[in-house]
Amino acid sequence: MISDRLRNVLRSAQSVAAFTGAGISAESGVPTFRSKGGIWTKMKPEELASMDGFMKNPDLVWEWYAQRKRIMADVQPNPGHRALAQMERLFPRFAIITQNIDNLHQRAGNTVVHELHGNIERNYCMACGKRYTNEEVLASAGVPRCSACGGTIRPDVVWFGEMLPEDAWDASVRAAGSADLFLSIGTSTVVYPAASLPTIALDAGAMVVEINPETTPLTSRVDEFLQGPAGTVLPELYDAAAAARKEKA
Ligand code: APR
Repeated sequence: MISDRLRNVLRSAQSVAAFTGAGISAESGVPTFRSKGGIWTKMKPEELASMDGFMKNPDLVWEWYAQRKRIMADVQPNPGHRALAQMERLFPRFAIITQNIDNLHQRAGNTVVHELHGNIERNYCMACGKRYTNEEVLASAGVPRCSACGGTIRPDVVWFGEMLPEDAWDASVRAAGSADLFLSIGTSTVVYPAASLPTIALDAGAMVVEINPETTPLTSRVDEFLQGPAGTVLPELYDAAAAARKEKA
């Protein structure tokens, strides 16, 4: 159920930012991290998603990322991703700020996507920076080596303890700080600095709406909580926005 206040903001908003986490891709078949049965309930992030873990056991880390690359290559955007792509065409300024590395927003058609944690389709040599596609790195088993300098190749994703890409972070802070409406979708809001973005939007006066089947540490501070799966709630939100903006036109 969408409130009148949200309907009014959908009607008048010039700038919208959608902040997404693993939950939006759950209905596409991409496992989340901390929900029931999530990845980190079974495996240790420090072993699989840290430089330390990579240095200690690069074979284990590459085996895991090779599996994730194959899973993410096989999945499709779901109605939640597609609704956000449609919403991009409704508002003068619309930005996706994602913690996801699965490329599903781009594949659904969004053109403004700030990737805070990298992208599963990119890889690079840690010594010389040479870039590699998945096809190139998955061609051989084991830890791939750079053909230019022999260095170790790693996935272009952000591991725990690493800095976020500066351009994506700066653009995300600008989008959150200038939004009329900020949507927090499918994220547990426990991983920083990404999880500080809803607060930046709140402090800047945006209406902040959370979409999640479960409550999170953010829920008590948002203006509206739409409880449910993104694949159901987002198409409804799109329909309400399209209707409200049509009335206005
Ligand atoms: N629709 C919307 N939300 C959902 C759905 C769904 N269908 N299914 C699950 N969720 C919610 C869960 O309730 C949970 O709050 O999605 C959230 C997923 O939380 P996490 O698994 O913690 O994922 P995320 O917030 O993206 O994690 C942040 O942590 O491990 C690192 O780098 C990784 O980007 C990731 C970051």
